[in-house]
Amino acid sequence: MKTCLITGGSGFVGSNFVRHILHKDSDCRVINVDKLTYAGNPANLCDIENDDRYTFVHGDICDPEIIGEIFRNEKPDVVINFAAETHVDRSIGSPDDFIRTDVFGVFTLLEASKQYGVSLFLQVSTDEVYGSIDEGSFQEHDQLLPSSPYSASKAGGDRLAYSYYVTYNLPVIITRASNNYGPNQYPEKLIPLFVTNALENRPLPVYGDGKNVRDWLFVNDHCSAIVFIIKNGENGEVYNVGGSNELMNIEITHSILEHLGKDEELIQYVEDRKGHDFRYSLDCSKLRQLGWEPEHSFPEALAETVDWYKSNEKWWKPIKSGEFRNYYEKHYKLPYANE
Ligand SMILES: NC(=O)c1ccc[n+]([C@@H]2O[C@H](COP(=O)([O-])OP(=O)(O)OC[C@H]3O[C@@H](n4cnc5c(N)ncnc54)[C@H](O)[C@@H]3O)[C@@H](O)[C@H]2O)c1
Repeated sequence: MKTCLITGGSGFVGSNFVRHILHKDSDCRVINVDKLTYAGNPANLCDIENDDRYTFVHGDICDPEIIGEIFRNEKPDVVINFAAETHVDRSIGSPDDFIRTDVFGVFTLLEASKQYGVSLFLQVSTDEVYGSIDEGSFQEHDQLLPSSPYSASKAGGDRLAYSYYVTYNLPVIITRASNNYGPNQYPEKLIPLFVTNALENRPLPVYGDGKNVRDWLFVNDHCSAIVFIIKNGENGEVYNVGGSNELMNIEITHSILEHLGKDEELIQYVEDRKGHDFRYSLDCSKLRQLGWEPEHSFPEALAETVDWYKSNEKWWKPIKSGEFRNYYEKHYKLPYANE
């Protein structure tokens, strides 16, 4: 049986991936190492926590002792690194944790992989490493021009992983995906924030004029792309993973309100994010030519996502208090409570 070490498996994409791979590959066991930061939530995997093929380790990817112990005890064949600090707005306020986890954490995992040997190290990177593009789409060999501390630290981890392929022959593949959406996403990110605010009849804080463009990828499609790349990708290569759904933030906002039957008056324009990239766009022909394509259409997957938040208040209500509430009020300069 193959052992996959999945880091950050208690976060949004990681937890969807753990569930996906256990379901798709009966010959695979999963070790999930997660620090359980504010974004890591054991409830994301409560349905599989008793699965014999699943083990959780509470640990920090920057800690070489814990990581070394996992490699010695579990001997992973494949490492898939999801663990990261991920929220651009938080990276603008306090970049330190981003540089630590998204660069030094990758280094710690690469060193252990080099020392103990793995058949593949897959670094989950992001389209944000390319920076903004007004027209056209980025290909994998285009230059990286990251512009936030988040994207710059992800670019550091991305290129560090590549350097271990070139310098030490470590089998490394890098994926760069666009904006994911789906169940279990921490409600500071645009879609879950807007859906849950709308459900609570709170304002939807839209940055600037709402015309910034992102490509949207359903999280299950991201998961299937990673499984596909593990099987079919080539070492040393980078693969863009997109959903071919470029939309302005304001268009998504209208779709959410329409789906929930809520009034457009909930839209509240707020001061733009500092250094807000205007548009991200990926050319995914390399991965398409290899044989992968997304299975979900945006309208259907968005409806499924909105309905998930609607039926899972018990998941997001406890999150939207405490730390979240303090962050929200300070960041958007909007009162969170509407009582
Ligand atoms: N969500 C997206 O739209 C998107 C798009 C492209 C790429 N990505 C990449 O996918 C990965 C997962 O993103 P996400 O949206 O699920 O993030 P998330 O913030 O929801 O989850 C991150 C997880 O990493 C864990 N973590 C953070 N620091 C850690 C550390 N030092 N040691 C161990 N665990 C730690 C957290 O506890 C959490 O469970 C990230 O690498 C991100 O850059 C995400």
